[in-house]
Amino acid sequence: MSISILVFHLLFITTCVYGQLVISTSGQSGELCGQYHHCLSNSTCVRSPGKYVCVCQEPLRGNAKLGCVSEKSATVFIQSDPHMKNLYHQFVSVSTPCRYRVMEFFYDHRYVIRVYVDNFLYKGGEFYANSITVRAAVSSVPFTTTPDETMLTWSAVHIIGDTTSIGTYQFMEWRGTETTGLVTPSEQTRFMADGSEIYTEYDEVDNLAMIKIATVGFSMWFRPIDRFALEEGLPCMAQVPGVVISVETDKLAKLQFNETDLSSTPTGPDLKASARDLDMDLDMYAILLTLRNTQTDYSDSTECILANNNFKDVCRRTDKQVKTINVCGHLYTDRKFLSCVQSRNHTFMARIFSDCVQTLCDYRSPVMCEVLKSHIIEFGCVVPKVLEDYDCNSLVQP
Ligand SMILES: *[C@@H]1O[C@H](CO)[C@@H](O)[C@H](O)[C@H]1NC(C)=O
Ligand SMILES: *[C@@H]1O[C@H](CO)[C@@H](O)[C@H](O)[C@H]1NC(C)=O
Ligand SMILES: *[C@@H]1O[C@H](CO)[C@@H](O)[C@H](O)[C@H]1NC(C)=O
Repeated sequence: MSISILVFHLLFITTCVYGQLVISTSGQSGELCGQYHHCLSNSTCVRSPGKYVCVCQEPLRGNAKLGCVSEKSATVFIQSDPHMKNLYHQFVSVSTPCRYRVMEFFYDHRYVIRVYVDNFLYKGGEFYANSITVRAAVSSVPFTTTPDETMLTWSAVHIIGDTTSIGTYQFMEWRGTETTGLVTPSEQTRFMADGSEIYTEYDEVDNLAMIKIATVGFSMWFRPIDRFALEEGLPCMAQVPGVVISVETDKLAKLQFNETDLSSTPTGPDLKASARDLDMDLDMYAILLTLRNTQTDYSDSTECILANNNFKDVCRRTDKQVKTINVCGHLYTDRKFLSCVQSRNHTFMARIFSDCVQTLCDYRSPVMCEVLKSHIIEFGCVVPKVLEDYDCNSLVQP
């Protein structure tokens, strides 16, 4: 190989790596609005006595600390704790230490899009989103109601967000296709099988990672928690962490949402009503939905895969699922317990949850149930009240 060809070859390789593996940003975002929070760089702070509000620039609307969107869009906002404002404009809190599917939709009888968010447990026992994943498939033949999985060719992009010091954000991006697995982004992994681009971009002023698929009118962006500010006990979240998922409404006519997700759809279902029908709190119902809709092979940690498998394999009937989550779900929502686990060992939580599901749903053993409670005490935490009050003797072998 001659020198010039070699140089060309090297240049070709380097210039064709779109989106680096690691991107660092430390933007100041927009103006400080009130004592703690900055508005997005393109939004303005409206001040009135004792009140500070970040407002999106007309004609945009949304959350001016996290994402301003066109009026012509259907949008999900996930912020802090995390609280989700879904497409049906309902507020749901999402307590799970595991990856969960937020949304699935089909577009134009050809595309399947699945959107996932991972939660992570931080100081104080609060969950925050720390990574986002989009899986997008195109079907080789148009489908009517549901796609034939064997006709789908999948692509994926996965972004983990973190901070490396106060105010310095870091994003890591992976790409994948069916043949490559998750790899460093490259020209080859930028496009879906039909040539549709899965575009990623990093906003260095507002510290946001963005994923867009124009063909289906989809965009999503994300800012992680500044965990160093949180750990220092600073008036944290100078820049509000969260996730925004948006679909352009002019595409809605060709788009079909899966109605079983937490995101719901612009026309429902009403998750509160569905929870009431099952005699569940909305919080517990949210946990049920995250478990039902997240494919096991798409869970993240081994503990989460185990929890998901145990739930799906042994807890098949809806009445059993409801009874079980109404007790075990509190392991994911009890603030005192979460705070205790966070300061010790996170992985304990999904594992004890998985044991709880297995004990209440499958073994149905009073002895195992008492062992479960004592495991929590031995671990050094207080048993969540609902589990503590649960009468193990009410369990009978199936
Ligand atoms: C802010 O405005 C600039 C210039 O109009 C635009 O290029 C940029 O995309 C906007 N940023 C956001 C986050 O909307
Ligand atoms: C919606 O998602 C659930 C859970 O993943 C799945 O079982 C169901 O088939 C999906 N619905 C449609 C219409 O694809
Ligand atoms: C945390 O807990 C998990 C599961 O209980 C265990 O496998 C792991 O070794 C623990 N890690 C540490 C650092 O103690």
